[in-house]
Amino acid sequence: MSNPKPDPSILVIFGASGDLTRRKLLPAIFNLAEAGHLPESFAILGVARPQIDQAAYRKQMREQVRQAEGEPLEPEKWKKIEDRLYYVSGEFDDAGLYDRVKHALADIQTRHKVPANYLFYFAIPPDLFGVVGKHLAESGLSKEDEGWRRVIVEKPFGYDLESARALNAELTRGLRESQIYRIDHYLGKETVQNILAFRFANGIFEPVWNRRYVDHVQMTVAEEDGIGLRGAYYDKAGALRDIVQNHMFQLLTLVAMEPPVSFHAEDVRDEKVKVLHAVQPLTDDEVRGHVVRAQYEGYRQEKNVAPDSRTETFVAMRLFVDNWRWAGVPFYLRTGKRLPHRSTEISVHFKPAPLMLFRETPVERTNPNVLILRIQPDECISLTFDAKVPGPLERLETVTMDFSYARYFKAEPATGYETLLFDAMSGDQTLFHRMDIVEAGWTVVEPILDYWKKSTSPVPTYAPATPGPAEADRLMQQDGRKWRG
Ligand code: BG6
Repeated sequence: MSNPKPDPSILVIFGASGDLTRRKLLPAIFNLAEAGHLPESFAILGVARPQIDQAAYRKQMREQVRQAEGEPLEPEKWKKIEDRLYYVSGEFDDAGLYDRVKHALADIQTRHKVPANYLFYFAIPPDLFGVVGKHLAESGLSKEDEGWRRVIVEKPFGYDLESARALNAELTRGLRESQIYRIDHYLGKETVQNILAFRFANGIFEPVWNRRYVDHVQMTVAEEDGIGLRGAYYDKAGALRDIVQNHMFQLLTLVAMEPPVSFHAEDVRDEKVKVLHAVQPLTDDEVRGHVVRAQYEGYRQEKNVAPDSRTETFVAMRLFVDNWRWAGVPFYLRTGKRLPHRSTEISVHFKPAPLMLFRETPVERTNPNVLILRIQPDECISLTFDAKVPGPLERLETVTMDFSYARYFKAEPATGYETLLFDAMSGDQTLFHRMDIVEAGWTVVEPILDYWKKSTSPVPTYAPATPGPAEADRLMQQDGRKWRG
């Protein structure tokens, strides 16, 4: 968050009766208000299909936000939001809806003395992004003649490179790149943002953050849950599109990027995209040898999943970032659903000490240092190192130096959307995907998707609550390594 308060504005949510609005967006707005981070002139206009009136919408949202917060809402604080919460219903492909939105906005502006700054949030299924974008352009709503107009677009941004480009072409008919905020909720996580602080606010890590000292890097996004009721979406997406192409590639760019010349959005994003450009697209042989996909047992019986589905719920892979800093250092990425625990972490495995000086002692080997950035849960940063066990014998044990977020900072519970909404209202695009980053991500995963499409070999399965298929372990073993944890 760059400024104490963002610009006065109206947040217009398309998909205002959906899950995202109820569980994340309105609770995030409430949290921002509680923390004093909302401008005095601010209002929300919900737009959705259900034909309910404003009073009913307000009542529904009050109840839903209370549930999301997990405690009664302080009436004073919620009232401030509720008094500024409006609703318009209609079909997204009906031009008449956008006229009604215009009138509602004009009315809200006068009533609450808000300037014509509109932040449109597309909390809608991806096949509607283009439709709403087109209508915003045609109705003149996205034209910046008075105040600013910005659009937040949820993921997934496209289904592959071609569809991402087509979607972008639709959006840019009425919007400039500087108005488009492609959101990735991983970048709203404090611990993800902290990777930049850790790397660039501290002098001692940068000198060892390269191929001379780093043996390899591991990234894991493990989820305990299955796909729940999202079968219709997930069966078309799969883990590679759902998690790797966006969230994990963002983690990769933050870990591997060069120091930017400043923390301005374009400088940071310039460095991030270079990382993805440096990842060499895999050949068919490399996909066969270094990418593993698998499906949890029972996946095909989930609601809205094809009975013969080959969609992966688990992926593990080895990538190289071919630049001077990282040449030859493997990055192992792994994600899956129905694994034993929910855990997202990055571990940087350093090279072993150059010489074994403990000859003629009971010490058989030393353990390389590992730096762990734990994103969730139990957010922490840890460094492992060998220490001497007290006593007359020369014995070593690996110990850990830990920094725990929860113990040190007494942070308020947050949805992860607070910072992202705040930044979009402030016009700061640093934490949002630029189009070239989206394209670079698709360019890396496309050879894998293409290979899978033509491959007829069976998709391995794994039992729920196990760490994934044996093939993922073999991926590491063939390089003489193993997964952490
Ligand atoms: C979403 C994916 O983007 O991220 C989901 O679509 C996944 O499949 C979720 O469960 C994970 O997010 P978090 O914040 O719970 O780690």
